[in-house]
Amino acid sequence: MIVAIDGPAASGKGTLGKRLAAHYGFAHLDTGLLYRAVARALLDAGKSLEDENEAAIAARKLDLDALDEEKLRGAEMGSAASKVAAFPMVRAALVQLQRAFATKPEGAVIDGRDIGTIICPDADVKMFVTASAEERANRRFRELSSKGDIITYDEVLADIRARDERDTNRAVAPLRPAADARLLDTTEMDIDTAFRAAIAIVDAVGR
Ligand code: CDP
Repeated sequence: MIVAIDGPAASGKGTLGKRLAAHYGFAHLDTGLLYRAVARALLDAGKSLEDENEAAIAARKLDLDALDEEKLRGAEMGSAASKVAAFPMVRAALVQLQRAFATKPEGAVIDGRDIGTIICPDADVKMFVTASAEERANRRFRELSSKGDIITYDEVLADIRARDERDTNRAVAPLRPAADARLLDTTEMDIDTAFRAAIAIVDAVGR
């Protein structure tokens, strides 16, 4: 079974993806990490985030098993990721790897921006997880602050708005719900409530 979860920054899709995967015994891929890793590789090599060719080379070299989540989280990398994620050559370089992950025999939960629309248009379950920009900024602010990131709520909100804008308006694989996705607005939900709602959506397709 393939569960595709899309949604904007800090909507809770990553946490939901992780918990759903643990609940059903499926593998989990947070595809945001791939774009973050491409941006990280460019920055580490002293290359520009504007260089599509170099970004595509970095994308082709990515090793799923070598992603260092600790190094890739953080507000700065999220924003850098959304720049390289707009390059068609970068997205093309990452398609096969994501589709291969989706064929895991035990089942797969994949979260990102274009999973239900482009990567796995035939996914058994599609969810579009969202929340108001202010609530998402609240959550991300708490998460970053607890990790020691020195950042203000206003900066987090501005970053989330800028990323929403870039991800929604880019020409290739823009952020949008698949026509057959179930919408899950988590603005008024804590994570346990959102998790129960997500389980109900998966179970409804007949596990
Ligand atoms: O965790 P958060 O939602 O803040 O970000 P993320 O999921 O790690 O994604 C970082 C950036 O990568 C996003 O702002 C998108 O621009 C890009 N991305 C994408 O274009 N397509 C995906 N499937 C996943 C992420």
